[in-house]
Amino acid sequence: MWSAGEWALLVLTALWLMLPAYLSNMLPVFVGGGPPIDLGRTWKDGKRLLGDGKTWRGLLLAPLLAAGLTYFLQWVALNTKWGLEWGFPSWGPSPWWFVLAYAMGLGALVGDAFESFVKRRTGRDRGEKWFPWDQLDFILGALLFGAITGLILSATGAVEPNIFESLFTFPRLAVILLLTPALHLLVNWLGFKLGLKDVPW
Ligand code: CTP
Ligand code: MG
Repeated sequence: MWSAGEWALLVLTALWLMLPAYLSNMLPVFVGGGPPIDLGRTWKDGKRLLGDGKTWRGLLLAPLLAAGLTYFLQWVALNTKWGLEWGFPSWGPSPWWFVLAYAMGLGALVGDAFESFVKRRTGRDRGEKWFPWDQLDFILGALLFGAITGLILSATGAVEPNIFESLFTFPRLAVILLLTPALHLLVNWLGFKLGLKDVPW
């Protein structure tokens, strides 16, 4: 049987490891805007390819900023008792932690854009809610891009053994998939209350 402390550490390290993806998913609200990714184009059904909610600035800036902010998380993991005593992991050796964090951040927004594509095709307007995909799109994208990056880094011998596999264990993946939807709803509700978002989801 696991102690309460071990359960807490499992949950906290799982969410900790997703911070680059969470940050990347939150940042477009602040740094997004400008030309939409689809440049206003429509699909055969007459509806927008992705819509005005997916912009180039969000897609390109947010993952870079999120990976940049991971520098501080990496520092916490390598220099403080959070990392050294309690075991909050880092994203790998320098400079590969940046590559992994960037890939997960980009994957988050690609997942989100893919979801918008499917939302438009199924007749849902920009900003309309679609549970649980609004909550999971970026997680699945981030994990997919992270997994591919882990494979490439280990196949090329840059980081061995596979860093993604060592960090994202099955119990942690389960925590991420189960808890992120609730966290996402909470953060968006807070963003709505603070006037950052137009809708509470
Ligand atoms: N955003 C952006 N560029 C991106 C992703 C998001 O500029 N690549 C910004 C947009 O201002 C968007 C906001 O972040 O409105 C929140 O993103 P999200 O909730 O995913 O977009 P929605 O407006 O709800 O649109 P959709 O229905 O397509 O998900
Ligand atoms: Mg979305």
